[in-house]
Amino acid sequence: MEIKECIKGRRSVRKYAYEKIEREVIEELIKAGQYAPSWKNSQTPRYYAAISEGAISAVNSCLPDFNAERTMGVGAYIVTTAKKGLSGCNKDGEYFSHLGNGYECFDNGLAVENIVLYAHSIGYSTLIMGLFDEGALRQLLSIPDDEDIVVVLAVGRRDVEPQRPERKSTEEILKIF
Ligand SMILES: Cc1cc2nc3c(=O)[nH]c(=O)nc-3n(C[C@H](O)[C@H](O)[C@H](O)COP(=O)(O)O)c2cc1C
Repeated sequence: MEIKECIKGRRSVRKYAYEKIEREVIEELIKAGQYAPSWKNSQTPRYYAAISEGAISAVNSCLPDFNAERTMGVGAYIVTTAKKGLSGCNKDGEYFSHLGNGYECFDNGLAVENIVLYAHSIGYSTLIMGLFDEGALRQLLSIPDDEDIVVVLAVGRRDVEPQRPERKSTEEILKIF
């Protein structure tokens, strides 16, 4: 798939037809994420993938009702985290950029974008979710305190052809000097 076609064709999907996803597919997706750039190559994103029926159902129960319903039938959830104290930090782990710890989430977003685009290129749809029960997910997946949970990614076979939400005009958001 052409990169431009992939970027333009990816959509957030909110209706899925269940199909099991094998661990090899998850590994392929995460490898795509690993090609993303990161602050000083600090590679702070970490991933917790649920692919068994039990694990999928447990992660689903950590979502608010609207996200739980939208992602019924997904073949996987991937919880992404950012390891703290590496990105945007000096060697003593002190944040020294004007964004504080913001580059941790920035690195995570770059990796997630790689993952969702790669997933789209091999026929899987995704939904990035920023709303979930953080404490419940942390406990369920034994996520350590030195990682911030950033998003939950749903991955599966789409059961709908979603419309492309309107984008602002380029003129509105761009100033060229
Ligand atoms: C950080 C982030 C958090 C999001 N959280 C949610 C969410 O909790 N539930 C949901 O349905 N969509 C969520 N979305 C999806 C956006 O609504 C979606 O990307 C946007 O409407 C544009 O649509 P598109 O992805 O099809 O281009 C999130 C997207 C991002 C990047």
